[in-house]
Amino acid sequence: MSFHIGAKQGEIADTVLLPGDPLRAKHVAETMMEDVICYNEVRGMLGYTGTYNGKRVSIQGSGMGMGSVAIYVNELITQFGVKNVIRVGTCGAIQESLKIGQVILAMSASGDSGANRHYFEGLDFAATANWDLLMAAHQAAKDLNIKTHQGSIFSTNTFYDDNPDRWTKWIKHNILAVEMESQMLYTLASRLNARGLSILTVSDNIITGEASSAMDREKSYTDMMKIALEIA
Ligand code: HPA
Repeated sequence: MSFHIGAKQGEIADTVLLPGDPLRAKHVAETMMEDVICYNEVRGMLGYTGTYNGKRVSIQGSGMGMGSVAIYVNELITQFGVKNVIRVGTCGAIQESLKIGQVILAMSASGDSGANRHYFEGLDFAATANWDLLMAAHQAAKDLNIKTHQGSIFSTNTFYDDNPDRWTKWIKHNILAVEMESQMLYTLASRLNARGLSILTVSDNIITGEASSAMDREKSYTDMMKIALEIA
C-alpha cells in the first residue's frame, strides 16, 4: 500500500520520468505519449502511463525539493517495482558560459540535504547517476541532434538564500548548475537498487541573471523530454 500514489499494481511502467511540476507531466502525457491513462491524482501530483514509440513509460510529478522527490521515488521503487527513475527538470546555471535552454546530463549531484547527512551519520555519499542511463541519454541526444553538457550539479534545500557568495566554491569546482532534487534521487536509486538519472534544462543563469521566456522554455523542455522518452 502506498500513501501518496493511488495506482493499482501493474499500472506504472518500469521507467518513470519525474518532472517537478505535475502539470508538466500532464502536458507531456497528452502531447507526446499515446494510449495514456492517469493512475494518480492524490494531492494533485498527477501520474500517467502510456507509450512512446510503442514502449511503455510513465510520467509522475515529483514536487519541488528533496523531501518531496524522496517520497515519490521511494514509493515508485519499493511499492511499484520501478527500475528506472529519470528526473526531467529545470536548473539555474552557475557557470557563465551556460545559456538558457541548454540541456545538462547530471553525472553527479553534490548538495546540502540534511537527510543524506543523517542517513550516512555525518559522512558524504557521492550521489552519482547510473552509467547505463547516462550513456544511453548521451547517445539519444546525439541521435536527435541535441547538444548536451555533461557534468556535476548541486542540489539544495534552500531556493532562497542571503549569502551573495554562496556559489563561489562550487563554481570553482566546476559545478554546472543548481536544482533541488537530484542528490536525493541518485542516493535513493542507489540504495534501492534502481537506476537514476537527471536530465536538466537551464531555466535561468544565477550568475548572469538571464532567465527564460515561456516560449524558449517550451522548446527546450521538449528537447529534454525527447531524450528521456527515447531512453525509456
Ligand atoms: N535554484 C534552485 N533550483 C532551481 C533554480 C535555482 O536558481 N532554477 C531552477 N531550479
